[in-house]
Amino acid sequence: MERWPRGRSVEGVFRPTLPLETPRLVLRPFTIEDYDDAFGYHCRADVVRYLYWEPPTPEEFREVLARRAGRTTLDREGDGLNLAVVPRDVDRVIGDVTLFWCSEQHRQGEIGFVFHPAFQDRGYAFEASQAMLRLGFQDLCLHRIAGRLDSRNTSSAHLLERLGMRREAHLVENEHVKGEWVDEVVYGLLDRDWAAAQSPEYLHRRGTMPP
Ligand SMILES: CC(C)(COP(=O)(O)OP(=O)(O)OC[C@H]1O[C@@H](n2cnc3c(N)ncnc32)[C@H](O)[C@@H]1OP(=O)(O)O)[C@@H](O)C(=O)NCCC(=O)NCCS
Repeated sequence: MERWPRGRSVEGVFRPTLPLETPRLVLRPFTIEDYDDAFGYHCRADVVRYLYWEPPTPEEFREVLARRAGRTTLDREGDGLNLAVVPRDVDRVIGDVTLFWCSEQHRQGEIGFVFHPAFQDRGYAFEASQAMLRLGFQDLCLHRIAGRLDSRNTSSAHLLERLGMRREAHLVENEHVKGEWVDEVVYGLLDRDWAAAQSPEYLHRRGTMPP
């Protein structure tokens, strides 16, 4: 039986209830006031090393942020919902997570994440990504959510594996990025596997609790 996504209005636009809340984090739409915080990590060479772009100029980033600010819906496939991650005890943006709606027909999505190095290795990216997976599976009713990365990006691969994703493919030199051929790795998680992993027994075994 086909499920109708929660938060989906009659004209087909997906409007999630925001902000998303986890034990330590608030995930909310960006505003232009977040410029200093967000540029503070997006401008770093170590942060964008395995992304498709070079650090943006201040002007370029202002335009990026202006496009993202206030974006609270997924209107059609191909759109991405990019949320600012704010720890409750820090009161500044320390990273962002994105859920892309890749295909309506095939109910496919993709997640992405970028965090300030000063706030990595604390499980914040994991906690924020769990909330985005829940949004994708539970509310948008996706069947599969993918994660794609440069094969050298071990932090990203580690995070996707901790989220329960399956390493599905290693594509050899399928992309030419920043002047070199690079391998891409694809991870995926199915809705049924995600649902099974939400059971109390499974969470107890892994030593993780849901946000
Ligand atoms: C990819 C990226 C988001 C991963 O961030 P991260 O901080 O390493 O990820 P996590 O939030 O899962 O934190 C990882 C560590 O925090 C630990 N941790 C500490 N406190 C924790 C807590 N309270 N709860 C859960 N984990 C905790 C975890 O155990 C884990 O340690 P381990 O590696 O020894 O297992 C980050 O490296 C990044 O922003 N990179 C630059 C941008 C980028 O490449 N993005 C991905 C593009 S594909």
